Amino acid sequence: MMKSTRPHSDTLVFFGATGDLAHKKIFPALQAMVRRGTLDVPVIGVAKAGWNLDQLKARAKDSVEQHGGLDPAAFDKLCQLLRYVDGDYNDIGTFQALRREMGAAERPAFYLAIPPSAFGIVVEQLLRIGCCAADSRVILEKPFGRDLASARALNEILLKTFSEKAIFRIDHYLGKQPVHSMLFFRFANTVLEPFWNRSHIESVQITMAEDFGVQGRGVFYEQVGAVRDVVQNHLFQVLANVAMEPPIRTDSESIRDEKVKVLKAIPALEAKNLVRGQFRGYRNERGVAPDSSVETFAALKLHIDSWRWRGVPFFIRAGKCLGVTCTEILIRLRQPPTMYRHYDLTPNYVRLRISPDIVLAFGLNVTSPEEETRSQLSELLAGRHPCAREMDAYERVLTDAMVGDATLFAREDYVEEAWRIVDPVLKAGTPLHEYGPGSWGPAEVERVTPPGGWQNPVVTAE
Ligand code: BG6
Repeated sequence: MMKSTRPHSDTLVFFGATGDLAHKKIFPALQAMVRRGTLDVPVIGVAKAGWNLDQLKARAKDSVEQHGGLDPAAFDKLCQLLRYVDGDYNDIGTFQALRREMGAAERPAFYLAIPPSAFGIVVEQLLRIGCCAADSRVILEKPFGRDLASARALNEILLKTFSEKAIFRIDHYLGKQPVHSMLFFRFANTVLEPFWNRSHIESVQITMAEDFGVQGRGVFYEQVGAVRDVVQNHLFQVLANVAMEPPIRTDSESIRDEKVKVLKAIPALEAKNLVRGQFRGYRNERGVAPDSSVETFAALKLHIDSWRWRGVPFFIRAGKCLGVTCTEILIRLRQPPTMYRHYDLTPNYVRLRISPDIVLAFGLNVTSPEEETRSQLSELLAGRHPCAREMDAYERVLTDAMVGDATLFAREDYVEEAWRIVDPVLKAGTPLHEYGPGSWGPAEVERVTPPGGWQNPVVTAE
């Protein structure tokens, strides 16, 4: 990817410093950035916890110990960069204290790791105290709104203060190396292009399975559900990587233009093409309503009305408390017009596994060694294991935001298109079906099933 020539932010201010996300993802990412030498500017945590700096440092230490491991040298350096401002976001005093802490910062990056309901007030307060210089940036956590109208309203608030180039909407899936390298796989290999279209591809299925529940995030999850939590953002990004045209250039806007074009070609999801499920036991989770109608599973079918894809169904399935934890894409090719029909051929496919391991596989038919008149499926594999030196998703997106490279962030028009697709059906109150933990979702998923059936990823222990 082409790096931006815009200057590096000279301070990172992050709101929500005492929160869950900071503990799970942000402190480990900051420590990794220090270790790699990409973070060498003050980091000011802001939150309303009644804490002081030492308490924040203790929390940061606990965070890195629990998530990835403490690197004593890098962590010490991070602590030297760390500052803390405690206070309510509604109180201008909090922001005046922040202004003092920022000193002579000219190019601050404000990272809002807080619920979207607080974005507006924080941005307004920053404006009020004159913190938003021309070179400042704002980094926002998902979910970006909860429907098209709220996403537009948020964009309006932000665009009053920041230009679109200075807004970085995080979708951490884009920071995952295997997601990002889907484009490399597609556009660095000539062999794919001749069959990557409606003439040869019969269907595409994308599965994001998690074998755990909401892990104490019941209050958050009740506001979102599977479609808003992972489909509208993470899995649409994956779909865009499968379906987009080769960008003319490698700059962020050329790449993002192509992704938006994919979404523009997708008609709004119809109720008949969505199956929602809820795992048995979800309603007993902390923060979940006893009669909750929030889905923890969704399966859907979409169409892309473009020259390349018209007539090829795209299926997406995501769920909590399923059989395994794995994200995988299966691109199934059409059967050949062959004299070998009686061999019970399996259609060729391309399988891209994003996690837990990285796999690129071609499914091919070979003759069975036991019986020459039978076919056997064999995979041509180009897999590799994640490497310890590789950047984790949060390290990658925060590093890119600090240097102003927007490639791995969702642009305004992209976010709005994504909401346009799911918005009507989310409001339609479609039926909800119960499924057993450890299963592959409710039986009703049959209604939205790819030709040849859903391929359930098999994860083998290392
Ligand atoms: C988050 C969702 O955005 O992505 C979670 O809120 C989900 O519900 C998570 O579990 C999956 O991402 P990762 O990186 O943990 O696989």
